[in-house]
Amino acid sequence: MPKPKKIQKTPKKLVKKTRLVRPALEPLVLRTLRGMKDILPEDQPYWDQIRRTSERLSRDWGFFRIDTPLLEFSNLFARSIGEGTDIVEKEMYTFTTRGGDKVALRPELTAGNCRAYIQHGMNILPKPVKLFSSGPVYRYDRPQEGRYREHYQINFDAFGELDPILDAQVIQVAHRLIQSLGIKTFQIQVNSIGCADCRKDYRDLLISYLESKKNKLCQDCRSRMENNPLRVLDCKEDKCAQAVAGAPQSIDHLCEECRTHFRNLLEYLDELDLPYIINPRLVRGLDYYTKTVFEIWSGSEEGKKNALGGGGRYDKLIKNMGGEDTPAIGFALGVERLILEMKRVQAKPYRAPKPRVFLAQLGSLAKKKSLRLFSELEKNGIMAAESFGRGSLKSQLKSASRLGVEITLILGQKETLDGTVIVKNMITGVQETVSVEKLVDIIKKKLKTDSVVVHHITQGM
Ligand code: HAM
Repeated sequence: MPKPKKIQKTPKKLVKKTRLVRPALEPLVLRTLRGMKDILPEDQPYWDQIRRTSERLSRDWGFFRIDTPLLEFSNLFARSIGEGTDIVEKEMYTFTTRGGDKVALRPELTAGNCRAYIQHGMNILPKPVKLFSSGPVYRYDRPQEGRYREHYQINFDAFGELDPILDAQVIQVAHRLIQSLGIKTFQIQVNSIGCADCRKDYRDLLISYLESKKNKLCQDCRSRMENNPLRVLDCKEDKCAQAVAGAPQSIDHLCEECRTHFRNLLEYLDELDLPYIINPRLVRGLDYYTKTVFEIWSGSEEGKKNALGGGGRYDKLIKNMGGEDTPAIGFALGVERLILEMKRVQAKPYRAPKPRVFLAQLGSLAKKKSLRLFSELEKNGIMAAESFGRGSLKSQLKSASRLGVEITLILGQKETLDGTVIVKNMITGVQETVSVEKLVDIIKKKLKTDSVVVHHITQGM
């Protein structure tokens, strides 16, 4: 066997010299990134209300839930939403992964849904294929109230139907959802921006009009003029709004097919008694739309109005992405904006069921037993509260009365050894001792079985 080499000690002097100099740690910044927010427990009832209402409505209207990744290849968005749009040009969170893929955080949900539609061959499903999705989207915009860099959308998309009855139904779903949240006053704006055929002539007409007003347009609109002239109509700058007041309108330049489509849509909306206004300046900020576009605006008289949601047809998007020719229509609502409006009009948030039983314990043995007892109650659909960390019975009873429970169960040393529990009626103050085996049945009876609350787990957004 070879002799092990003698390990030579490094001279102390050298150790000192070669010691690594650690870089100073960057200080932790203990706050969310600009334009992003925590959704704290006190705000969750509003989120719950929106989640529950939209999930219920999506089921009622035949939309199936789909969840797609937050990250996609960035060119998916660039090609669908459009290279020249603010979203793609200025607002996307784009980066290259360690593996070299160019990816982006999704700035909206429709592009991912279309990718999934093609990838999973949904074209063979009976039409229309109706998809519902919700979740966070990312836009690097200038944050202000109602405008965030991370916001949540509720999104409905329907594929495979050209008939304007679907446009009307989709608008009806948006209307129904907002109304069901307790928001009664809002405005639906509709417009038609035509198809590729009629848009071409209209675009030329618009560009020559905008040329004549070039000096009166903001810097952004001057550059938009060439590659995205329709967006100039939608500019929020006062001077641009004035300059485009006399601009030609897309609805006056629709081809026969688009005109009939729009007329039929309006007839369906009338039939449904859905109030709407035609806004000939409505063009939307995403390039994939054709024919119908619509937006829903909050109804506040005073102060700033917000777009609660928007959508429209995108009949060529699936084909342009490489799928079959598939007409489609959809919309998204902004959750934070819905919540701002719900709060403003004092709409009711979701009220979660409250525990009606409190489990108090005294002594270390009882504490151990109560852990199992709590789980037994939960398994039997009896929602209970506890404060296991608290020692004194007095402080536990205080917690129980603060929660307004109807029954408090007390488990002390004696009861633990006897296999019993004290059941205290918090309204009358009457106490009785019952055996642990019978406890669940007795509690159920006391709370009347039909009003016993069962836990519901709601799916996260
Ligand atoms: P969008 O109009 O860009 O449409 O966004 C939909 C809604 O999301 C807006 O009406 C607004 O309520 C909310 N929203 C947009 N940006 C922000 C932001 N920075 N902060 C807070 N809320 C915001 C779309 O995204 C389309 N994908 C809708 C669609 C679905 N079209 C067809 N299917």
